[in-house]
Amino acid sequence: MPSVHSLRLARRSDIREIAVMSRCLIEVGLRGWSWHPMRVARALHGRDSCVVVADVGAQLAGFAIAEFGDSTAHLSLLAVQPAHQRRGIGIALVEWLEASALTAGIGRIDVEMRANNFAARCFYEALGFSHSGEVRGYYQNIETAVRMQRRIGRLAALEK
Ligand SMILES: CC(C)(COP(=O)(O)OP(=O)(O)OC[C@H]1O[C@@H](n2cnc3c(N)ncnc32)[C@H](O)[C@@H]1OP(=O)(O)O)[C@@H](O)C(=O)NCCC(=O)NCCS
Repeated sequence: MPSVHSLRLARRSDIREIAVMSRCLIEVGLRGWSWHPMRVARALHGRDSCVVVADVGAQLAGFAIAEFGDSTAHLSLLAVQPAHQRRGIGIALVEWLEASALTAGIGRIDVEMRANNFAARCFYEALGFSHSGEVRGYYQNIETAVRMQRRIGRLAALEK
């Protein structure tokens, strides 16, 4: 069932929760803490990055972080709290970032994920992303990264 959520740009008060979600839902099993609060703060304040969150009531249910280049956007992080998964929040977060990328004239979104992350691969396939490569040992020499991408806007229309 779709959830009643609302999307907004992240605030400073969200930084710690986003970082903890990254550690627990994305970086689990890896050494250290890559997206620690200071790194999330840099993304929040960066000119070329965007941090969007989904609220369900008073709870932060999900977030996404993207970095924007001249022609591509990189989806750096995306997570939805387990209790709120499979209710369309992940799609809504990606669509929000995609709309921003289109406005910026960007034609492609790139993302990479841990090769054993079956849910994420299914999720991005459901959104029309296609496999674009693999990088062995990308995650601390422990795990392969799978790269996926999706053309958006005029470039996507040209492919049809
Ligand atoms: C991947 C993730 C962000 C998806 O978020 P979500 O809000 O549950 O996704 P949605 O509800 O928008 O799902 C959209 C579609 O993606 C596919 N999908 C999502 N999760 C899936 C899963 N676990 N297994 C299979 N397909 C899945 C389905 O087609 C789904 O549509 P449906 O529910 O109508 O069948 C979420 O599972 C998550 O936070 N995982 C942990 C962190 C992570 O792996 N992040 C991505 C790598 S950075």
